[in-house]
Amino acid sequence: MNWKKRNAKCGDFNILPQNYKTNNSPIILNGWVNNVRDMGGLIFIDLRDRYGIIQLVIEPENNSELAERAKLLKSEYVIWVEGNLRLRSNPNPKIPTGYVELLLENFGIINKSELPPFEIIDDLDTNEELKLRYRYLDLRRPTLQRNFIIRNKVYQILHKYFENNGFIEVETPVLMKSTPEGARDFLVPSRIHKGRFYALPQSPQIFKQILMISGFDKYIQIVKCFRDEDLRADRQPEFTQLDLEMSFIERDDILNLIEGLFVKIWKEILNIDIPTPFIKMTYEEAMTRFGSDKPDLRFGMEIINISEIIKNSEFKVFQDTLNNPNGIVALINVKNASTYSRKQLDNLTEYAKKYGAKGLAYIKFDKGEINSPIAKYLKNEEINSIKNAANAEDGDLILIISDKKYKALTILGALRLEMARQLGIMEKLKNIFSFHYVIDFPLFEYDENENRYVAMHHPFTSPKDEDLHFLDTDPAKANAKAYDLVVNGAELGGGSIRIHDTNVQSKMFQLLGLSDEDAEEKFGYLLKALKFGAPPHGGIALGIDRIVMTLAGTDNIRDVIAFPKTTSGMSLMDGSPSNVDDNQLKELGLALLKQNINSEENNEKNK
Ligand code: AMO
Repeated sequence: MNWKKRNAKCGDFNILPQNYKTNNSPIILNGWVNNVRDMGGLIFIDLRDRYGIIQLVIEPENNSELAERAKLLKSEYVIWVEGNLRLRSNPNPKIPTGYVELLLENFGIINKSELPPFEIIDDLDTNEELKLRYRYLDLRRPTLQRNFIIRNKVYQILHKYFENNGFIEVETPVLMKSTPEGARDFLVPSRIHKGRFYALPQSPQIFKQILMISGFDKYIQIVKCFRDEDLRADRQPEFTQLDLEMSFIERDDILNLIEGLFVKIWKEILNIDIPTPFIKMTYEEAMTRFGSDKPDLRFGMEIINISEIIKNSEFKVFQDTLNNPNGIVALINVKNASTYSRKQLDNLTEYAKKYGAKGLAYIKFDKGEINSPIAKYLKNEEINSIKNAANAEDGDLILIISDKKYKALTILGALRLEMARQLGIMEKLKNIFSFHYVIDFPLFEYDENENRYVAMHHPFTSPKDEDLHFLDTDPAKANAKAYDLVVNGAELGGGSIRIHDTNVQSKMFQLLGLSDEDAEEKFGYLLKALKFGAPPHGGIALGIDRIVMTLAGTDNIRDVIAFPKTTSGMSLMDGSPSNVDDNQLKELGLALLKQNINSEENNEKNK
């Protein structure tokens, strides 16, 4: 071996001056050169490993040979060093090892590095694509390393918690039958059965239900799920769930168990006692008050319905909306925002339009005056009543939307969050965690594109017992035994009590527009299994990536996934998805359509 193996780690020296003791035996460290600073009289090297960074020092006066060799050192070289710890004459209390340094006696280069395309430091404003292409370098950053340490802690707590609660971990297949619902499936062609395809699981939903029918009773799995859907800051095409299913339980058994889990995770990782019990808010209440099925409850700015107040107003836009039985006029009151300029309000209008708004009305209460383009259409009493209903004072800005109920609520919900971001409210709430459950989701939602009902959660979710009759009369009115776990406006998990009766399950498929043949073709194996003594059961799946994001305080899912994809689904480091050679295709009985490849190439060129 031409290098010396470490007997300590860079992060070991988190020592306050009063605790410092001279060490007789030399310390050997292995790590990466973070940077070299040649100050003439002294040469400083910052050495980095997974555990931290420590300052090394060479005194050229006392060791000229070492100083000469140090000139060869460059950033990201891997080295071994040997030396003695001493207190720094110039301490840096900002870093954990900042009171000490290692006076070098010897060192050696283990491996050189090319010049990295960016510096390995946090908060570096480098092109994201470049960082993803050199992901191994980006992963050396202390913040990313910390995120994966948090992620590991989450795994350990999950395993321990569910083991202690009597769960067993079972693996379900990664190659399965394609049953597209919700997102698109990723498909895998079969070589042996040419023309047939496996799908990668969007979640192990059906398998875990079948495990309940097999009597496993309490199942968990930490499992990769795959969804071919549009990506966002909190979505990746492959992501990890903590998937759970239990038999002979009711909704609150699951919600209490998950509450206990989060209390433990937050205590053990952040040393924070999160308040319990978690609030349970119905979907209807969440939408009506906050305009979201995943409301951020850390601040107010609640939605106020003013339809009743202005039902006789002469303003045509409001009248037209209220003539529709489903229409509402509602507002949010943004405190201390009456100084918003015309331009800022125009930008807000554009923002609201992204959520489908036709326009945005506002009233500013500014220095005793009322400033609003719609004031001329409203009577004084109407404006006063709006002001009272909104609890508005001088200095406030009221934003008003009139539209179909859920659309108006959703737009106001989005404006509420945007205003909280713009006014710095979000920033102040950074370290507060507000956990709650949203319950009683509608069973169906209407898909305007497909002109049919789709399951709001998934087709296996049970209607509420008291709403079962709506399946025959008015399915849109049925609520589901479904629930989501929400923290600070992010959905961390979702689940439901399932249908365990074949007839109800068949009816559900019918309502979703599946013919008996289609239902049999796609889900026949589940329908059959349900006939063999299916216990009452239910479960939940938690997004592990999103849990780690919340713990790490990042709003980018790529910060918690080691090798993530770009928003266009590319892995820039290994270049996937990639072309395959003709022989591979032939073996699978596949051929590519020339026109698709050409248009794909054009798309790439036009980027
Ligand atoms: P659902 O589709 O709500 O439920 O997913 C559960 C949780 O998984 C996370 N999640 C994602 N995370 C990152 N990227 C994605 N593309 C992504 N999609 C979902 C979210 C979400 O809350 N089988 C049901 C669960 C059940 O009913 O038991 C399911 O998968 O945090």
